[in-house]
Amino acid sequence: MSGVITLIKDDHKKLEAVFKKLEKAEPAEVHDLLTQVAELLIPHSKAEEQVVYPAIKSTSPDESSDVDDGLAEHQHVEKTLEQLLRTNPEEPGTDGIIAAMIGEVRHHVEEEEQEILPAFSKAASNEQLSDLGEKFTAAKEKALGELKATSGGS
Ligand SMILES: [Fe+2]
Ligand SMILES: [Fe+2]
Repeated sequence: MSGVITLIKDDHKKLEAVFKKLEKAEPAEVHDLLTQVAELLIPHSKAEEQVVYPAIKSTSPDESSDVDDGLAEHQHVEKTLEQLLRTNPEEPGTDGIIAAMIGEVRHHVEEEEQEILPAFSKAASNEQLSDLGEKFTAAKEKALGELKATSGGS
């Protein structure tokens, strides 16, 4: 395993570490942790959409419908996250929305790690995987810059 697949899995691990904290967080900590989730998750998802998913679709056409499902999951999670960031964490029901969002991302990550990425890693060359790794990192940095610019630069 090399290149882009390792980078994606590393991001998933970082995200899971924040989810663990979020599940035990006091209301006062929730907003900061959600911001951390957004800064990890949104650039990661955008870079997957721009760089990785199109490559998977052309290299492993059998995975196309899973990739499209993945895309829809990104959009749904992103919307939920944006709503949560505008909500007071003490608001009734917020806990449940956060738990559901975490569950959704975990399901999505599992699908990427168990289905989509293994199929792609078999079909792609090492050169393609390492080239995509560089493009993935660049796309992520650009998306993080844009996210911070729109959220007022935290
Ligand atoms: Fe991912
Ligand atoms: Fe994803």
